[in-house]
Amino acid sequence: MIKLEGIGKYWDKSALAEGSERVWGLREVELEITRGEFVTIMGPSGSGKSTLLQILGLLDLPSEGRFLLEGQDVMGLPDRELARIRNRFFGFVFQSFHLLPELNAIENVQLPMTYAGIPARQRVERATELLEKVGLSHRMKHHPRAMSGGEQQRVAIARALANDPGFLFADEPTGNLPSETGRQIMDIIRDLNKEGMTIIMVTHDDALGKMGTRCVKLADGRIVG
Ligand SMILES: Nc1ncnc2c1ncn2[C@@H]1O[C@H](COP(=O)(O)OP(=O)(O)O)[C@@H](O)[C@H]1O
Ligand SMILES: [Mg+2]
Repeated sequence: MIKLEGIGKYWDKSALAEGSERVWGLREVELEITRGEFVTIMGPSGSGKSTLLQILGLLDLPSEGRFLLEGQDVMGLPDRELARIRNRFFGFVFQSFHLLPELNAIENVQLPMTYAGIPARQRVERATELLEKVGLSHRMKHHPRAMSGGEQQRVAIARALANDPGFLFADEPTGNLPSETGRQIMDIIRDLNKEGMTIIMVTHDDALGKMGTRCVKLADGRIVG
């Protein structure tokens, strides 16, 4: 379970003339996410959706408040330990796929397992299985540039699942895809949730926002519903 208590995020930008200007990304966020949920995060552009997702996924740290993971306060942990938690327990999918261009599909999927110290044979076996699961058994050796956007996003999903995480974070995962392809990606995400994966997905599409089991609405960095 993830629990956010009184989370705020701000950036201090030095203004040109005098003093500094504080830009708030999130304010007074209280949020609890339980295993098995499919939470969607909605709100207008600039409302703090990506900031919230980054903080939930420990990709960025809040400026104030507490972050509890399975009851443990993780904010004081060293970067190395936060990286280990992300690698083992969290999977990430982004709007623009974020695959490494010099690696082919099966190599991209293996990456998180390499970081986790999984032996090569086991990595290849698991990556093969995952690419089959997302319907890409015919694209194992293809590089990202030789694949469609939908195929790249499937590889990214397979990669996110590599270390069998409990949580999958997705920031507008269908935002760069044609609608039919986007629907296929959403089917995969929904199936993962049915299999028990906790999903946290940012979207600005009302129809997608309703696909979850719960929708968190943001406005100006605050949860408003
Ligand atoms: N690294 C940053 N430095 C300064 N301001 C930021 C940074 N990241 C986000 N912001 C600001 O925080 C607010 C929320 O941004 P974001 O979470 O990206 O919104 P959304 O994903 O809902 O469009 C915006 O006003 C944005 O400009
Ligand atoms: Mg965003």
